[in-house]
Amino acid sequence: MKIAFFSAKSYEQPFFEQANEGLGHEFKFIDCHLERSTVEFAQDCQAVCVFVNDDLSRCTLLKLKEQGVKLIALRCAGYNNVDLDSAAELGLDVVRVPSYSPDAVAEHAIALILTLNRKTHKAYNRTREANFSIDGLMGFDLKGKTVGIFGLGQIGHSFAERMAAFGCKILVHDPYLNEITHDYDLVTSCEIFKQADIISLHCPLTPETHHMIDSKAIQAMKPGVMLINTSRGAVVDTKSVIQGLKTGHIGYFALDVYEEEADYFFEDLSNTVVCDDSLARLMTFPNVLITGHQAFFTQEAMEQIAQTTMNSVEDSAQGRKLANQVTAPLRTVVV
Ligand code: NAI
Repeated sequence: MKIAFFSAKSYEQPFFEQANEGLGHEFKFIDCHLERSTVEFAQDCQAVCVFVNDDLSRCTLLKLKEQGVKLIALRCAGYNNVDLDSAAELGLDVVRVPSYSPDAVAEHAIALILTLNRKTHKAYNRTREANFSIDGLMGFDLKGKTVGIFGLGQIGHSFAERMAAFGCKILVHDPYLNEITHDYDLVTSCEIFKQADIISLHCPLTPETHHMIDSKAIQAMKPGVMLINTSRGAVVDTKSVIQGLKTGHIGYFALDVYEEEADYFFEDLSNTVVCDDSLARLMTFPNVLITGHQAFFTQEAMEQIAQTTMNSVEDSAQGRKLANQVTAPLRTVVV
C-alpha cells in the first residue's frame, strides 16, 4: 500500500520505517495537516495516516474517497477529529491505536503536578543565574491530598495508581462505570469539585464532555484548586479557566492540550507573534504550565504507535479483519 502521512515529523519516521521492515509498504511524508485543501497530496495513495490535529470532516473524506483512499489510520487514540458517520457511509475504514502507553500520559500528568507544585522550572532558571533564594518556591505535600479524576480508563487507571502511591485519596467520576474494584471512591462530578485539591482530566472529548469544565464547574471547585488537562483541549472552556485564574479561584493550571492547538502545537513558532489571545494570556500566568501535546511522547509509546499502525495497514492490505477499527456507534463510549 502507498500511505500518505500527514502532519509528519522527522522524529516519527524512523519508528514507522522500522515497523515497515519486511512489509514493504510505500511511505509519503507530508508536513502539513490533512484538510480539504491538502487532500491532493495523497494522490495515488490507498491509505492516509493522520494525527490529532488533522481535519477529517465530511468534505475531506469525500475528496479522499474520490481519490481512491480506502483506509484512514489514526496514529493516536482519540478520534474526535473524524466524522465517523460519513466515513461509514463512504465505505472508508478507520483504524486507531487504542492503547500505546497509558503510563506515558499518566507520568506526564504527574510531572505537571510536581512541577507546578514544587516549582522546579523556576528553581532551574534561578540557580543557573546563581540565585539560590527559595523565596516564592514553597509547595505542598501531596500526601493526604484529595485527587479527583475524570475518566477511569487506561490513562486514568495508571494515573490513579500512581497518585495513590503518593498517599493521596482518590475520587473518580466516570459515568460509564458502575463499580470500581480498586480502593477509590466513585462519586459525582459535584463531589469531585467540592472535595478535590487536584483535578485531572482523563476522559475523551465527546459532545457530553465538551466544555465540561466551565465557569459553573470552576465556581463549584475548592478555592486554590490545581487543574490538570492532558485529555483534549475542548474539555475545558479556556475563557472560564482564564477568569478562574484571574480571580485566584484556580490556584494552578497545567495543560498539555489546548482547544485551538491545531495552529500552534508541534511547531516552532518562537519567531512569530501568537495571535490567539487566550493562549497568549495563559502564557502570562506564573501558575500556568503549558506543554505542547507531548504527554504521549516516549520511546516506548512511539514504538507501539508505529507497530500497531503498520499491523492495521498490513491487515487492510491483506483483506483481514481490522482489530483496531473505529465505528460510529462506539463514539459515545470511547474516544
Ligand atoms: P479510555 O477510553 O481508556 O478511557 C476513557 C474513560 O473516560 C472511560 O473509562 C470512559 O468511560 C470515561 N468517560 C467517558 N465520558 C466521560 C465523562 N463524561 N466523564 C468522565 N469520564 C468519562 O481512554 P484513555 O486511553 O484513558 O485516554 C483518555 C483520553 O486521553 C483520550 O480520549 C485522549 O483524548 C487523551 N489522550 C491524550 C494524550 C496526550 O498526549 N495528551 C495521549 C493519549 C490520549
